[in-house]
Amino acid sequence: MSREHVPEHVLEHVLVTGGAGFIGSHLCHALLERGARVTAVDNLSAGRPDALEELDRHDRFTLVEHDVTVPLEWAGPLTAVVHLASPVGPARISERPVATLLAGSAGTVNALEIARRRDVRIVLASSSEVYGDPAVQPQSESYWGNVDPVGPLSGYTEGKRFLEAMATAYRHEYGVNTGIVRPFNVYGPGALPGDRRVVPTFVTAALAGRALTLAGGGQAVRSLVYVADFVAGLIAMLESDESGPINLGSAAPVTIAELAELVVRTAGSGTVQIIAGRTGEAAARCPDVSKAARVLGWEATTPLEQGLAWTVESMRQAAARTAVAAV
Ligand SMILES: NC(=O)c1ccc[n+]([C@@H]2O[C@H](COP(=O)([O-])OP(=O)(O)OC[C@H]3O[C@@H](n4cnc5c(N)ncnc54)[C@H](O)[C@@H]3O)[C@@H](O)[C@H]2O)c1
Repeated sequence: MSREHVPEHVLEHVLVTGGAGFIGSHLCHALLERGARVTAVDNLSAGRPDALEELDRHDRFTLVEHDVTVPLEWAGPLTAVVHLASPVGPARISERPVATLLAGSAGTVNALEIARRRDVRIVLASSSEVYGDPAVQPQSESYWGNVDPVGPLSGYTEGKRFLEAMATAYRHEYGVNTGIVRPFNVYGPGALPGDRRVVPTFVTAALAGRALTLAGGGQAVRSLVYVADFVAGLIAMLESDESGPINLGSAAPVTIAELAELVVRTAGSGTVQIIAGRTGEAAARCPDVSKAARVLGWEATTPLEQGLAWTVESMRQAAARTAVAAV
């Protein structure tokens, strides 16, 4: 494809769908710090108004308010696309399964179309949810998963599986330079508690001095990756030609009970309360991260204790600001 201006670097002008969200806003900041121009495309159905305010002050940042399930004609400069836009978190996904499936399907096609028309690299965020309730530990990328297509979170899981299949189809049929990453549990400053994600939910409860309730004995195992580490992995993926899928998670998983104890210790308040019953969630998700190390030279390096300390501090400050604003 001929272009008037052939960019020297893939990070010159990046379009980030879901750029107003938790991961998206951290990614936009990191790209701006590296000298990129960044366009965030987001329908603002979730996300972080505080982070957007900060990003908006940057003259190399533009926000386009748009729903990715509707095709986007983007004529501005472009060297890469990152597709993150999707409803996220058990609360949002189970309340809006249709919107979730449409973001994973139509939204993915529209993001891929931009990359195809402009002949640029596109990295797409899938999820460790594609492994479902895995029957093998740890999960390497060659494991196909154990997924319920009609379960309470299937709108999300099947949307992500479609995303992976469609990205692969665009690569094979149209030659688009696609890259798929499978994030495990990403946590850090700026994740909002409203959608029932485990770390912000626990930290909010602990800071309020409440009990962190753990169904099923808290024995589920999760791989938590600090957001700055994850963003570094996304950028490494952007700068490569790898098709993926590639697991981006921590090689040191924890049980939910261990996580809850650590949050309470870090916050200095709250209690852990184990309650009976099943959670309906996957028993254990532990990534094999050797492919990320081998092909991207990437690994999650922030210790959980450190990442949680930063997260708790940031959420403590945000709660204090909200309390002052309410006076
Ligand atoms: N945070 C995690 O632990 C995690 C784990 C696995 C995968 N992921 C994936 O990473 C991506 C980003 O997740 P996040 O944690 O930043 O979530 P988030 O909810 O903070 O951000 C998602 C953003 O997408 C936007 N959005 C949703 N539907 C949209 C639509 N139809 N059109 C335009 N914008 C839309 C929201 O407004 C929000 O700003 C998602 O694709 C998610 O599935 C995240």
